[in-house]
Amino acid sequence: MTDIAGAREVLGNYPDVYLVYDRNLADVASKLEGMCLATKAVDATEQDKSMDTVLEICRWLLMLGADRGATLVALGGGIVTDLCGFAASIYKRGIRFGFIPTTLLAQVDAAIGGKNGVNLDAYKNMIGVIREPEFTLLIPSLLSTLPRREWLSGAAELLKTFIIDNTGGRYEEAVAVLPSAYSVLPSAYSVIPSECERIAPLLLAAASVKERIVAADLYERGERRKLNLGHTFAHAIERRARLSGRDISHGEAVAMGILLAARASERLGISPEGLEERLRRDWAAIGLPTECPFPPSDLAADMTKDKKADGDKVHFVLIRGIGDVVVMPLGVREVIDLL
Ligand SMILES: NC(=O)c1ccc[n+]([C@@H]2O[C@H](COP(=O)([O-])OP(=O)(O)OC[C@H]3O[C@@H](n4cnc5c(N)ncnc54)[C@H](O)[C@@H]3O)[C@@H](O)[C@H]2O)c1
Repeated sequence: MTDIAGAREVLGNYPDVYLVYDRNLADVASKLEGMCLATKAVDATEQDKSMDTVLEICRWLLMLGADRGATLVALGGGIVTDLCGFAASIYKRGIRFGFIPTTLLAQVDAAIGGKNGVNLDAYKNMIGVIREPEFTLLIPSLLSTLPRREWLSGAAELLKTFIIDNTGGRYEEAVAVLPSAYSVLPSAYSVIPSECERIAPLLLAAASVKERIVAADLYERGERRKLNLGHTFAHAIERRARLSGRDISHGEAVAMGILLAARASERLGISPEGLEERLRRDWAAIGLPTECPFPPSDLAADMTKDKKADGDKVHFVLIRGIGDVVVMPLGVREVIDLL
């Protein structure tokens, strides 16, 4: 699907469509008017990714008389898709929902895989359900207004996906396409509209990899853990950043985390030498950070608290090569000492 007009066709297949959209995307949402019984804007901030907003959406549906045949459609990034997937899963014990993701991160990650949830106080994604949407529409042209940092956040997850599964040489293709897809225009940063089409096959490939992994392991007991590549380090980096007042986005932390995973893999003799250096060069070409500002020893305490830890072991995702990763339960200290 190339533009939002295609979404109108899909929505036309569903009766009683209710649209919740990111307030910053009112222009895009207006193009879906006529296809929806009602629309509602929400703020896409982590503070608003809360039970309060979920209940607000449920009350809105109730007030409008939405019944079990209704379809709730989310237009926005991962915050809006997570909120709507959860609200739709609990409203009247579950109604249909669909996603129109508008960030690169949501198109390749957040809107795929059935995890929906919200934050509880300061704890991210603490309440939620696993339930698949009826549809996820990937529309590359929606990315043309994405701010640079949001673009890079998605790029990190896209590259992560192809390090896990490089069928068709998509990693190399992404490294070739991503640096030129984003340009500094005189007025603003922007994804070049024509380049949105060049990245379309990459979006589809990444979404398919995630879909395949999730289908094999919906509840994250094995294969799905691979999708956490770089994330144990990343969560600790994000926490260190918050405590020290540094501004590091999730995608930037993931990019740094993947480099640390590559270094650990080399030092454990799992990957050939030179992997970290290769990734570092690729990150630099795309504009992703190549150095973690914190020494690895500063990350140890937070890594032990990782919500996916199993006793004193953490399921580390290590890289044997591009397209080949392995999950190994290792002690945090053991890994940190290697770095
Ligand atoms: N459910 C999952 O499996 C999963 C996976 C990864 C991340 N997430 C969640 O996703 C959230 C992050 O989502 P995100 O990074 O996709 O974006 P977001 O929803 O946090 O939005 C980021 C910013 O981009 C703006 N924006 C969105 N689309 C735009 C567009 N097309 N043009 C211009 N601006 C636009 C938003 O208004 C917002 O200011 C986090 O809460 C994270 O926990 C969920």
